[in-house]
Formats: sequence, C-alpha cells, structure tokens
Amino acid sequence: MLETRNLSKSFGPIHVTRDVSIRLERGERRVILGPNGAGKTTLFNLLAGVLQADSGQVLLAGKDITALPVARRARRGISRSYQKNTLFDGLSVRENLGLAAAVQAGQARRLFHDSLSHPKVRETVEEVAHLARLEQVLDARVNEVSYGIRRQLEVGVALATRPQVLLMDEPTSGVGPEMAAGFHDLLSGLPRDLTLLIIEHDMDLAFEVADKITVLNYGEVVFEGLPEAARGSDLLKEIYLGSWENA
Ligand SMILES: Nc1ncnc2c1ncn2[C@@H]1O[C@H](COP(=O)(O)OP(=O)(O)OP(=O)(O)O)[C@@H](O)[C@H]1O
Ligand SMILES: [Mg+2]
Repeated sequence: MLETRNLSKSFGPIHVTRDVSIRLERGERRVILGPNGAGKTTLFNLLAGVLQADSGQVLLAGKDITALPVARRARRGISRSYQKNTLFDGLSVRENLGLAAAVQAGQARRLFHDSLSHPKVRETVEEVAHLARLEQVLDARVNEVSYGIRRQLEVGVALATRPQVLLMDEPTSGVGPEMAAGFHDLLSGLPRDLTLLIIEHDMDLAFEVADKITVLNYGEVVFEGLPEAARGSDLLKEIYLGSWENA
C-alpha cells in the first residue's frame, strides 16, 4: 500500500534519511521506533510531501507519488496527525472535525456554517467522533478540553479526510499512562483496511499495536521485524540504553 525505495534526504552536511526502503501492506499497522533525532518525523515529511527527497521514491498503492505535492498526496489518501498541536483552539471539537470533513467533501468554499451542516460532512463527523472516542466532547471548545482529548482530536481530524494511509507522529506523547491505554483501544477500533504508520515512544503500546516494527537510527533502518523479535534484540537494547528495560 505504501512503499519507499532507497529514500534519502540531507540537510546540508547531515544525512537525516539514509536509503530507507520500507513496504507496508494494506491494513498493516507498522510502528516506527528510534531515538530522538533519528529522522522519524523527517520520514513522515517525505511521505506526506512536505519535504522532497534528494533521491529515492515513494509509492502509494503501486503508483509513484514522489513528485506530487502535499495536497495531491492527501487527495490520494495519505493523511497525518502531528507531533505538535495543529488544531483550531477557539472552535469546538465538532467544528474542527467538520472543517476537515468539509475540505475532503469539497464543501469548504461554502460559508462555514453551511459547510458543517452539509449531510455528507455531518455523517463523517458522527462516524469519526465515534472512531476517535470524541462523542462526549463534540460541543466543547478545543481550548477547554484536556490534552489527551486534543491528541484524540488530532487523530479524528486526520480520519475526517477519509485516508487510506494514516501517519501518526507520537499520538500519545505527553499523555498519561491511562490515556495511552485508551489509545490502544482507539487504534484497535479503527477500520481494518486502514494502513497505519505510527511513530511511538511508548514501548508497551508499540509492541501491542504493531504488526511489524521498524527501527530508525541515524536516519537508517537498523531493524525490521515482528514485535517479539524487536523485544529481544540486543541492537535495540543498545540504541535505547536503559529505557528498554522499562518496556
Ligand atoms: N528542516 C530541517 N532543517 C535542518 N535540519 C533538520 C530539519 N528537520 C529536521 N532536521 C534535523 O534532522 C534530524 C532528524 O530530525 P527528526 O525531527 O526527523 O527526528 P525524530 O526522529 O522525529 O526525533 P524526535 O524523536 O525528537 O521527534 C535532527 O537532527 C534535526 O535537527
Ligand atoms: Mg519527531
């Protein structure tokens, strides 16, 4: 469904992405691990089209999308949730979902309130609110809800564009263990044919949700395999030093 071939990117003298080749099947849940600065977010930027690779290719459903800009990749079904908050704080949860759904449904040029009342948009909002567990907070303003709910809303906004591939950059960063557990349920409830690529620091969550794990270190894929194999790997213990024992 999503594939990279020998993807490379440098910023000046720093090779941030080195010859990365990964291949995800439709419906696969892949977790990307790697220490700070390993190039995880950069890889997402290359996949989403925010950054252009120096060399290599990105393929979506077998088609080469390397040259396509962000908007056209999004239209073909790549969506993402961000490491940092990108929500409209002064709007309600419903309005944030509705805006994303309206853009996707081609209704965004109407007046704001007309967009949100469009049946297609309302239907998407309902469905996504259910998937992202936001039904109870739909009418709350974003700046009134908890940080954990905002993280869920980030995922909801990404889902409202009806993606085929969802890239999630540290969806549980900054949330407590309880929310992280809730996130596991949320992920389990997503449609099975949605392909998920998740950057995650929470090892427990990573091992629980991943079909396969890819580890980046200094921009390079240093491990790819089943979660069980990742858990026992000496190489990974070394990369993560002490933090691995807590996993
Ligand atoms: N636009 C940019 N210009 C220059 N250097 C950049 C740029 N974006 C990222 N970098 C550098 O590339 C390296 C990888 O950054 P990246 O954000 O991809 O890492 P990461 O694995 O997501 O880290 P973290 O776990 O901290 O989020 C870092 O050294 C970073 O400083
Ligand atoms: Mg990052």
